[in-house]
Amino acid sequence: MVNLPGNRGSCWVDGAGPTGYSLLEGSIHAETVVVGGGIVGLTTALRLREAGRSVILVEGLQIGGQVTGGSTAKITTQHALIYRQLIDRCGLATARSYAEANSAGAAQIKDWIREYAIDCDLERKAAYSYATSANGREDIVAEAEAARQVGFEARVLDRAPLPFETTGALCFADQAQFNPAKYLVGLARAVADRGGRVFERSRAILVDEASRWRVVTAGGTVHAEHVVVATNITVKSPVGMANRTQPRCHTALAFRVDDPRVIDGMFIGIDDPTHSIRTGRDGTGPLLVVLGPKFDTGQDGNVAARFVALEDWARNNLPVGDVAWRWCNEDYDTTDRIPYVGEPDPEKAPGFHIATGFNAWGISNGTAAGIMIADAILGLASPWRNLYDPTRPYPKEFHKNGDSQSIVRSTDDIGPGEGGVIVRGDHKTAVWRDGDGTLHAVSASCTHKGCTVTWNNADCTWDCPCHGSIFAADGSVIHGPARKPLAPAEL
Ligand SMILES: Cc1cc2nc3c(=O)[nH]c(=O)nc-3n(C[C@H](O)[C@H](O)[C@H](O)COP(=O)(O)OP(=O)(O)OC[C@H]3O[C@@H](n4cnc5c(N)ncnc54)[C@H](O)[C@@H]3O)c2cc1C
Ligand code: FES
Repeated sequence: MVNLPGNRGSCWVDGAGPTGYSLLEGSIHAETVVVGGGIVGLTTALRLREAGRSVILVEGLQIGGQVTGGSTAKITTQHALIYRQLIDRCGLATARSYAEANSAGAAQIKDWIREYAIDCDLERKAAYSYATSANGREDIVAEAEAARQVGFEARVLDRAPLPFETTGALCFADQAQFNPAKYLVGLARAVADRGGRVFERSRAILVDEASRWRVVTAGGTVHAEHVVVATNITVKSPVGMANRTQPRCHTALAFRVDDPRVIDGMFIGIDDPTHSIRTGRDGTGPLLVVLGPKFDTGQDGNVAARFVALEDWARNNLPVGDVAWRWCNEDYDTTDRIPYVGEPDPEKAPGFHIATGFNAWGISNGTAAGIMIADAILGLASPWRNLYDPTRPYPKEFHKNGDSQSIVRSTDDIGPGEGGVIVRGDHKTAVWRDGDGTLHAVSASCTHKGCTVTWNNADCTWDCPCHGSIFAADGSVIHGPARKPLAPAEL
């Protein structure tokens, strides 16, 4: 058994409080059904309710707990180094459009927090991308020029205000950070208070055409003229998104600190291995949140070692106390670092909207996505339609499937708290031994497209190395694109 310090789970979810929305039951209708209660789905739903349109939102788990609730929740238009790359590869107009969409997304979040009095620890902070190498400093200078070209005020500093050596930093003043889980809980309350219907623990197991669109859960069905698949990675789309994106995970640790002013600002390193740093708080007190470098989901057989390395790095570089929280979080990268949002096939599948591929910058991008989708449903033109075009060309070699990293010969090779995959002919069985020594078996074939899962020895989950589905040790779905649990299996 790998014993890592800290409570398992995101530090933000702890303080977000219970939500208590009911399960979907029976057959109901609305103009729009939103699948997924993260930042994209709730932004779409609230904007539609503000326009007086009927909305039903179905969430597979609980509001606030998934990718948004596990992020570092920096509300910023500074997305590490991006504007130089966007200008060089996609042109100045696209880079400006990206800047405008994210500025609008960030502004909308702050407006709603004020308007709906959402208590989510919003704090104004500067954002810094920092370098630790000479080349990194040159990149910072180039990024500052690019940021100015798209309309931002960007300053280059000789060093970042951090307690370790840096060779320079790019500073955007007047950005913000918040508790993302509390924000989502507040958005859901605003949707419900305005007459929208929100359902939890209601996973969409089928999304298909019937009259117009139909979303089916274990307990009920929603019929609607528009369906918005806001499930982080699409669980269904008229144009496949799984091969246009690459699932990437990060490890996150929240440390106790004595003084909340120990670090002032939000930081992201641009040299390898990169780290992301911000302050925050849970119900007990102030925290320092530190993230490690990304890795392909399900393609690392020892995620626990990443936590050990991250803790070592933090202890060597930052004034941290005990580990209070630890978690993994996953988002999807795209080849050009721009998300895919919109109606993938308006002719054959009108009213089918998707949003995915946020490249770990989906707080502002995800809000812009929700605004754009809602506006499309309201019949309003969006200036970001071309930017986020979900059918734009992409290089086929971008997406890489992986193999299970957990193949073992027999259950004797599986220690308490560990998991392994046993292959017998065509049968692959995922076996987990609990702390008492009892073995639990499920099929190791992912219910999305059949790849063989890997045991995540830090989160105790089965992670798919192809498109990033994550299953609990008992096989139930935590994260899509899978919609169904791993099948039961016998040893
Ligand atoms: C480690 C990390 C740090 C990050 N930090 C930042 C940051 O500082 N700033 C920033 O801008 N971005 C950040 N991001 C990115 C950002 O958090 C995400 O891009 C964004 O939150 C994605 O929102 P979402 O609505 O797509 O996903 P989610 O929040 O995951 O919402 C999707 C919802 O859909 C539900 N769902 C899935 N399948 C079904 C189904 N079949 N039926 C019903 N419901 C379903 C899920 O349960 C979930 O609640 C970070 C990402 C990571 C991984
Ligand atoms: S997520 Fe696609 S095969 Fe597992």
